[in-house]
This record gives sequence, structure tokens and C-alpha cells, in this order.
Amino acid sequence: MLFLYFFTLVTISNGSSILGIIPTPSFSHQNAFWPIWKELSLRGHSVTVVTTDPMNNPELKNLTEISIRETYDIWAPLFENMKATKNLVTSNRDVQIEIRTVSKFILSHRAMATLMKNDSVFDLVMVEAHYPEFLIFGEIYRCPTVMLSSLDVTNEIHVAMGNTIHPITNPDLFMPKYRDMDFKDRLTGFMYVCFEWLFGFPRYMSDRNKVIREFFGDDVPDVSQLLDRVAMLFVNVHPALHGIRLTGPNTVQFGGMNHMRDPQPLPKDLQTFLDTSKEGVVYFSLGTNVLSKDLKSEEFNIFMQALGELPYKVLWKYELDDGNLHKPENIKFVKWLPQQDVLRHPNIKAFVTQGGLQSIEEAMYCRVPMVIIPFAVDQEQNARKAAYKQIGRAIYRGSGELSKNALKKAIKEVIEDPSYRKNIESLAEIILDEPMTGVEKVIWWSEYVIRHKGAKHLRNQNLDVPLYQYLMLDILAFVIVTLIIFSLFMVIVYKIIKCFFSIAIGCVKLKKE
Ligand SMILES: *[C@@H]1O[C@H](CO)[C@@H](O)[C@H](O)[C@H]1NC(C)=O
Ligand SMILES: *[C@@H]1O[C@H](CO)[C@@H](O)[C@H](O)[C@H]1NC(C)=O
Repeated sequence: MLFLYFFTLVTISNGSSILGIIPTPSFSHQNAFWPIWKELSLRGHSVTVVTTDPMNNPELKNLTEISIRETYDIWAPLFENMKATKNLVTSNRDVQIEIRTVSKFILSHRAMATLMKNDSVFDLVMVEAHYPEFLIFGEIYRCPTVMLSSLDVTNEIHVAMGNTIHPITNPDLFMPKYRDMDFKDRLTGFMYVCFEWLFGFPRYMSDRNKVIREFFGDDVPDVSQLLDRVAMLFVNVHPALHGIRLTGPNTVQFGGMNHMRDPQPLPKDLQTFLDTSKEGVVYFSLGTNVLSKDLKSEEFNIFMQALGELPYKVLWKYELDDGNLHKPENIKFVKWLPQQDVLRHPNIKAFVTQGGLQSIEEAMYCRVPMVIIPFAVDQEQNARKAAYKQIGRAIYRGSGELSKNALKKAIKEVIEDPSYRKNIESLAEIILDEPMTGVEKVIWWSEYVIRHKGAKHLRNQNLDVPLYQYLMLDILAFVIVTLIIFSLFMVIVYKIIKCFFSIAIGCVKLKKE
């Protein structure tokens, strides 16, 4: 009987309808979730996903992909804007502008029209955490919502879940520094958090409210209310790489290099190139957002000269025809490559990367030490985390560290000093040593939310007290005022006693005379 009960409890959520919405037009934000959509659909759920990069796998019969690929066209100029080195306040603003533009574009996309009409039934809506305005679909379909992210989330989202944020021990995703902060860094971190509370968070909410009001009318709840109803947050981080953050049980850290797929054969010319390069190969790619073809010519020349002088072959993801480029013999340009399979090749000695999290995960999985040259968003903090774990070296463009000699030296160091490879091996083993894989965690908790129609019991009570109570500012003020009054009182008593004694002593003296 008990067994039967357990059985129905576990299977009741099979065959649910799930809607996933991943707005960011960026390959690494999309393929990070591919295994989740795949597994959910194979478990018999009917899964509908709004995505810029559909898998188009005909074997996944229960998966419907709604393509919003055109979002890439509006994204490129926005990302260029974010890449230009600026201060934290303006880059916070640029990210908000970028997100608002993308949201509006997607909500007006013709592929979304049917979804917005409310004529299907969903049991769970899963939204990329950087776009909480899409939680509105949980209201439309009257079902629980969860959020998921292919990287850590910003302070706004951690705060919305009741998780701790701290400018020094858990700097925001976009803060460049991590550990080893001097006074100036800590002051900057503190000021940034103050800026966020006073201006950043309110603007974040009001911008998003405007977007959903524009498309769904004035009666819809505020985004802060939508966030308050979110059952769970799934974050693709692992404490062994990202450090510890205190979170409630409504936040599940599922980082574990989940997006690695089974090895596939390499294109023939690449296979031959890698097999025959016995001296070893350095793989250089800046990912899909930062393109080698867009590098400023002075930086491009630094890469070309440093890589050209290495005693290794170099495989460079370069997006244009190399037509009349004068390039050193050891360098091979390739417009596109299957990165995971390239990194798996035993002759790959090092990976020169921009430091996107998915690239770092692939390098860790394949045990390839890195040289990280961060360009934008979370990449600088990723670089510092990798450097802290000594699984690679970091070179910061902003502080003018990128030079031919620095790059050459860093690459040689990660290849010739075996400790980098050893560190990356043990870190990868730790990250993979979990009771269940990251994908299994996300699926188990998603079905849990479906079974219980939400997870109100996991809502963090940190959210129920105002900030001044959480920081105990009123108590602190009370204690300080009491102490001051008490000390004043003591001083007065002391003065009176002293005065009394001096009078008494005066009297005694008088008497003696
Ligand atoms: C599709 O879902 C059904 C149950 O709804 C399940 O029996 C079947 O195995 C699934 N098929 C695939 C290919 O995922
Ligand atoms: C959507 O339709 C369902 C079922 O018909 C209904 O219960 C729900 O209230 C509708 N949602 C909105 C926002 O109108």
C-alpha cells in the first residue's frame, strides 16, 4: 500500500506540459539547457521551448521548439555596446537597455502570437532568470514558475529569492574583482550595492513592468510580484569553482558541465591536423559573442605575433577568409569548429579563451589548462576564479596587461608547468562527484514543483522582513542610543560622587584645622 502510494506520487508528474522560455540570443545560454529539454521530453513530458537555437532533433517527439532566431540580429550591436570598457553604473544601464530591447522584440515576434493567447495548458513555466518579465506566462497559464540560468545570476535575482548578497564575499556577477580585494575594490563593491538598492533595483523593476504592461495591459501583476511567486531557481554554478554563497533551499546549484555531449568524429581536415601535430596544439577561440574578426588591429597583431612565435601549432577560430593575411606557418584558421570535440583531442595543450562559463566548463571537462583574456559581462570574474583555482592564467586587457610577451609567457607557463593540468583534473573530478548529475537535479526539482503545484513552503522568510529589520538597524540604533544614555548617566553619577567626596574631604580638612 505504502509502495503503491509512493509509486503514484513519483509518477504523477509524468506526462506534464512544460513551457521553457530562454530569450538570450547566445549559443552558450541556449545549449546549456539542451540536455534538460531533451531529458524532460524523453521522460514523457510534453515540452515547448522558446529558443534562439533549436536543436531540431527529429527523435525528440515530445519536444516542440519555437524559434526566435531573429533575436540575434538585434543583439549584436547591443553586445558591442556592452563590450566597450565602461564603469559599473553605465554597464548596469546598458545591460538593462539590452534586456528590455530583447524582451520587446521577442514579445512582438510572430512565433509568440499563439503562446500569448492562452489557449493551451501548461503545468510549469521555466524562464531564463535574466528575463523575469517572461514569468508573466505563469499568470497566463495559471501554473507554477521556476527560473534557470546558464551562469550565476545578478544581485536582483538572488535578492528576489531571499539569498544573501555581499559586496566582498559574493560580489555581483558583473563585478570584475573576486577575492584579494584591496580597500578601493571593497569600497567600490559597497558603493555598487548601495547604488543598486537605491537606483538599480527600482529601475530594473519599472523597466520590466513597462514591457509587460505594453503587451498584456495594465491589470497584470508587477514583476516584483511575479518574482515573489517563483518556486525555485536553478543556477549553473558549482561551489568548487564559484565559491560558497548562502542560499535557501529554493535555489539549486546544478553546475556540473552538464552540456557536454557524447564525442562525435571531427571533420577530416581537423582530425588530420590535430593527429599530425605531435608537438602539441594551442586552441584559440573567443567564443560566439566576441569574434576574432572584430578585434582591434593592435590586439589582433598581438595575438598573431605571440601565437606565431610559439613552438606549438595553433588552431584559431577566425570567422573570415584569411585571403591576404600574412600569417605564420604554425597557425591554422578555421571559421567554425566543434569546440568540445577539439578540446577532447589529446594533442591539445592549452586553450586561449575569452572566459565564458561554458568554455571554461568544456576546458575543465577535457582537462585543458587555459589562458583567459576576458572581454565583457561575467568573463573577468570567471577569469579571476580560474586563476584563483590555478587552472589557468588570466590576462586583463583593461589594465593594459595584454602584450605579445605576456601572452606568450602565460601560454608557455600553463603548458610547461604540470600543476595547471593537475589542478584542473582534480577540480573536474570534484565537480563531477555528486549524488546526481546537474540535469537530474533540475528535472527532479521541476517535477517536484509540478507535483506540489509550487513550493511555497521553500520561500525564504528573509523576504518577509523589511531591509532595516533584516540588518537589525533599529535594534542597533536602540542599543547605541541606550549605551550613550547609560554612559552619560554614569558620567553624571561619577561627577556627583566626585563632587560629593571633594566636599566631604573639604569638610574633614576644615574640621582638622
Ligand atoms: C513521448 O511521451 C510519451 C508519453 O507522453 C512517452 O511514452 C514516449 O516515450 C515519449 N517519446 C519520446 C520519443 O520522447
Ligand atoms: C487562461 O485560461 C485558463 C483556462 O481556460 C483560465 O483558467 C485562466 O484564467 C486564463 N488566464 C488568463 C490570464 O486569463
